[in-house]
Amino acid sequence: MDSTHLSQKINHTLSTLRYGENPVELYEPIRYIMALGGKRIRPLLVLLAANMYDEDVEKALLPAAAVEVFHNFTLMHDDIMDRAPLRRGEQTVHEKWNANIAILSGDVMLVRAYQLLLGVAPDLLPQVLERFSETAAQVCEGQQLDMNFERREQVSIPEYIRMITLKTAVLLGFSLELGAILQHAPLTDAEHLKAFGDNIGIAFQLRDDLLDVYGDKAKFGKQVGGDILSDKKTFLMLTALEQASEQQLQTIVSWRNKTEAGIAHEKVSAITAVYDALHIRHQTEQQIELYFRKALHHLDAVQLPEKRKATIRGLALQLMERDS
Ligand code: IPE
Ligand code: IPE
Ligand code: MG
Ligand code: MG
Ligand code: MG
Repeated sequence: MDSTHLSQKINHTLSTLRYGENPVELYEPIRYIMALGGKRIRPLLVLLAANMYDEDVEKALLPAAAVEVFHNFTLMHDDIMDRAPLRRGEQTVHEKWNANIAILSGDVMLVRAYQLLLGVAPDLLPQVLERFSETAAQVCEGQQLDMNFERREQVSIPEYIRMITLKTAVLLGFSLELGAILQHAPLTDAEHLKAFGDNIGIAFQLRDDLLDVYGDKAKFGKQVGGDILSDKKTFLMLTALEQASEQQLQTIVSWRNKTEAGIAHEKVSAITAVYDALHIRHQTEQQIELYFRKALHHLDAVQLPEKRKATIRGLALQLMERDS
């Protein structure tokens, strides 16, 4: 099945989900964020992996939806933590309502995600719940490191890679692993698919960091420069810190801890100018390429004929070149 067909199945499944009605303040934000859409990459990865082993992907549909609901829960809370005003081109939940509403709606989304997994075949359920729980805790670990790093002056590139592996990559890896598990794929295949997803996920977050500075707001749907404003230790920032001249370093340091919206434009321009001078964009693109290649080695190792891997390979390539 091609990606478009699988995406239609995901959108249809998500449109049938019912989260709850009362109190309306609890459930309306869930319908709101889910209706904003997004790329729906993670459920697509679940179905693509499942489809490598069986034409019939029906039993993967609700688990795929569970992963997307979980992802949207993480975004709702992430936007509070990141003080983000925009998500998918619209107001974030905590801006449209308030932070308490975003916390509690997010909580119930996590619960709903678990409920969506309960339909998994009984022989697979313990494994699926265990791996999902492990992944979900890792996402929280990564999110905490991401916040810790805002306040830290020194963060190494390996520490950064570990942080994004946790907050972002493991969920992409798990999505593929889940699709494979649901179809009783051989263990080594499930492991290689997971490793493929983890590396694609690292590249995906590197691209996200890049788009946060160089993206087009209309396509990206998030505030451009948000990471700079919040002093995020992105790959761009860490590479700039490594390579900055004395004067460039002074510029960067002078803007630290200045996170008020009023100075946003000036701060973002000043730091972006340093990035430009150091060709940080190009260096980030190279790093993306590196992780993409690492990922492909794992896809190559999956014991299936090449034609069964073609769709997933194509999607990975699209993800690497994305602008939204
Ligand atoms: C955003 O994820 C959070 C990151 C891990 C970078 P996506 O870029 O998949 O967001 P949506 O779901 O398409 O909006
Ligand atoms: C998000 O990283 C990772 C999770 C939501 C777990 P970011 O903070 O970079 O994601 P965006 O840019 O807000 O989507
Ligand atoms: Mg964040
Ligand atoms: Mg964020
Ligand atoms: Mg981001």
